[in-house]
Amino acid sequence: MSRRPLIAGNWKMNGLLADGVALAEGIAAKRKAQPDLACDMLICPPFPLLGAVVGAVAGSGVTVGGQDCHGKTAGAHTGDTSPALLKDVGCSAVILGHSERRTDHGETDAQVKAKAVAAHAAGLLAIVCIGETLAQRDAGQTIEVNKSQLKGSLPEGANAVNTVIAYEPVWAIGTGRVATPEQAQEVHAAIRAELAVLIGEAEAMKMRILYGGSMKPENAAQLIALPDVDGGLIGGAALKVDDFWAIACNCA
Ligand code: 13P
Repeated sequence: MSRRPLIAGNWKMNGLLADGVALAEGIAAKRKAQPDLACDMLICPPFPLLGAVVGAVAGSGVTVGGQDCHGKTAGAHTGDTSPALLKDVGCSAVILGHSERRTDHGETDAQVKAKAVAAHAAGLLAIVCIGETLAQRDAGQTIEVNKSQLKGSLPEGANAVNTVIAYEPVWAIGTGRVATPEQAQEVHAAIRAELAVLIGEAEAMKMRILYGGSMKPENAAQLIALPDVDGGLIGGAALKVDDFWAIACNCA
């Protein structure tokens, strides 16, 4: 089963307008110069930069996504952004249920699921994030926690075209402490097995599962080469053109 890898950059709350445009332009230029790159590339800037970044990558093959969206199409939700608006300004994807949103904003599995339903209705690819904390790993609950988050967050109608899963162990995010290949493969395989229960074996085999958490040019190759790892969701290393590009170039 060949799944085309996805290399996605989550810029989080970083950069100003000029930085974001320069970063997007740099990535787009590299991507344009290598049309036969063996992966899809997505960048997810902060909301106010979306329009400028969509313009900066136009025609390059690099796509743009949001870092969150609301579960409703429109209405009185101050500070929130609808999936329909993300689509309208040129996004093709949205990250949902990132652990920083679960922690900072108390997002629950049910809310992530509702957001994914709304994202699908707007025609966006939903990147559904799950992952255990260090305390949960130390307590031997890693597989159970990830299976439970997956089951609770995955929307009805999820398939390999409209959904990507991102496994991001919380203890590996921004810490420089990357999961070992053994740890990553164990959880990715368990996620795929649970996907088979939830959406059927055939669809589970086609769905991409990204690894996220301190992925860098120097460790990306061995992670991306794992049988059940289909790319990465990258934070810090996605803020430098050369690092992000080097990670993408690890996809065979
Ligand atoms: P880092 O790559 O900075 O660890 O962040 C990972 C992440 O949270 C991507 O969503």
